[in-house]
Amino acid sequence: MAMSSQTSDITDYFSQQSPSQNSRSQKILSDPATESILQELNSDQRKAVSKALCAHQYALILGMPGTGKTTTISCLVRVLVASDKSVLLTSYTHTAVDNILLKLKEANVDFLRLGQVHKVLPELQSYTAQMAASDIKTVNELKQLYESKSVVATTCLGVNHALFSQRSFDYCIVDEASQITQPVCIGPLRRARVFILVGDHYQLPPLVQSVEAR
Ligand SMILES: Nc1ncnc2c1ncn2[C@@H]1O[C@H](COP(=O)(O)OP(=O)(O)OP(=O)(O)O)[C@@H](O)[C@H]1O
Ligand SMILES: [Mg+2]
Repeated sequence: MAMSSQTSDITDYFSQQSPSQNSRSQKILSDPATESILQELNSDQRKAVSKALCAHQYALILGMPGTGKTTTISCLVRVLVASDKSVLLTSYTHTAVDNILLKLKEANVDFLRLGQVHKVLPELQSYTAQMAASDIKTVNELKQLYESKSVVATTCLGVNHALFSQRSFDYCIVDEASQITQPVCIGPLRRARVFILVGDHYQLPPLVQSVEAR
């Protein structure tokens, strides 16, 4: 599958990697399940996924508007889940989080969506913790629910949820990261071993009203 010629490709990615991490990522990349997921991406998107898998501590993925960053994230999440990794998926707005989740739902990836039900898209509301916990009677069952999903999605400001007192993640992926202020972004990053920031700082910067803080 190729992207339309009107859109340019994701062109910049940077990651900090170690040799052992590199060989592990090569193993994941040569897995047949991974190969079939990566078929959906163009070559630059595949390189971005590969860089993210190589990341020792973090990876940054930069792409112009509409170049397939969110699509890349959804494939990266599928690759990570297929390799038994846990992923915390986040962005500043509910809409941005739900956009990735729609792609994951289409690919039959299961996840837990934190956040108030009415803020979540109707087609994703059954994945919310509140709905999933509606039949739960004990604290232990609730803990099991929180542990059970490889992918947990929330807005950056949702990281005060009770789930985070018992769980940390292999990867934290932040979409539209360039529109998020550092203090807000640090919350989710602290919950994972490796973080991946995806965005474009040439688009809209974060909204900061204080002139001094800007
Ligand atoms: N490899 C691909 N092949 C075909 N279509 C693609 C591919 N990657 C992305 N697209 C399509 O391009 C459009 C933009 O993709 P996407 O939303 O992932 O880009 P983005 O970089 O996240 O955009 P934005 O800058 O608005 O956040 C979508 O319609 C998506 O389905
Ligand atoms: Mg996007």
